[in-house]
Amino acid sequence: MMDKTAFDAAAPERVVDSPLCGAPAFLLDRHPPKVDFAADVLEGLSRPQKQIPPKYFYDARGSDLFERICRTPEYYVTRTELELLSDIGPDIAGIAGCDVTVIEFGSGSDAKIRRLLDALPNPCAYVAIDISRAALERAIEDLARDYADLTVGGIVADFTTPVELPPEAFSGGKKLAFFPGSTIGNMERGHARQFLADVRATLAQGDGFLVGVDLRKGRDILDPAYNDDEGVTAAFNLNVLRRINRELGGTIDLGKFRHLAFYNEADGRIEMHLQSTADQRFEVAGAQIAMTRDETIHTENSYKYSVPEFILAAESAGFCAVRTWKDRQSLFSIHYLAAV
Ligand SMILES: C[S@@+](CC[C@H](N)C(=O)[O-])C[C@H]1O[C@@H](n2cnc3c(N)ncnc32)[C@H](O)[C@@H]1O
Repeated sequence: MMDKTAFDAAAPERVVDSPLCGAPAFLLDRHPPKVDFAADVLEGLSRPQKQIPPKYFYDARGSDLFERICRTPEYYVTRTELELLSDIGPDIAGIAGCDVTVIEFGSGSDAKIRRLLDALPNPCAYVAIDISRAALERAIEDLARDYADLTVGGIVADFTTPVELPPEAFSGGKKLAFFPGSTIGNMERGHARQFLADVRATLAQGDGFLVGVDLRKGRDILDPAYNDDEGVTAAFNLNVLRRINRELGGTIDLGKFRHLAFYNEADGRIEMHLQSTADQRFEVAGAQIAMTRDETIHTENSYKYSVPEFILAAESAGFCAVRTWKDRQSLFSIHYLAAV
């Protein structure tokens, strides 16, 4: 859980400290240690319903596969949010004002932040936070080159723990936190509310938080979005097993698992699992794991919200909902929250 000091300046582990124009001002590597990965996977695989936290999808290959998911015809989320961001850019700019420092959680590629930066009048700094160093490094290098007047930096970190911003990120102006992609939907609803409250604790009154939230809808749209014909989402899901083999000395046969994703309407969430196609045993970090045929490892939830549901969560976390936008088909929503 983040505390109030989360955005306080600190002495970080500084990987890049470049005075060059057109290069990132800083890149701080606070990636969680490999022992955390091992502990989380072993704990998750010892549960009655086996599970692996979704943040472990994102090694370099996982980040690339996610970008490919965003380009599949079935995955409406990315193109809808991108179009909406372009349409509402002037409205956001009018609310956020000049000289803001933008802090993005789970930044991934730079596609969405470009739309936001292009809309904002004279933003002064941009800080990307992501657990995937490969994706983060690529994005901030490209942005620093293309937005030469902007202080651009990145922090490789788990955003569910406190993330300290370095002094370069402080302009004295307002902060605008940005959390697109409905990544908030990957958190249990209670954790999402706590995350909102943790972000609120790092902001001053009047600072903004722009959040992209996927909306509840029928399984006719949702099920295909997570089961694309090309099999990219399946490859993304299976990639976490490949990563376990590589980083944790795993002996998992990927051929004995299949991708499973479906809308659980009662809980309003897409569930993603890896289903064992045989009775099998394998090793992870020296531990023996047994699975029966058809048993699953739960790898991700993607919770969907109604607009009132999300606003209620945001208000209970110390924000007021200034404005909400939806696309014409009501597939996706973007919320401008102000810290009260
Ligand atoms: C669903 S993708 C969204 C990417 C991008 N923001 C978008 O809107 O398309 C989730 C992103 O958050 C990052 N991420 C996931 N869990 C994270 C965590 N606990 N801490 C930091 N980054 C995380 C992933 O590396 C990935 O870039």
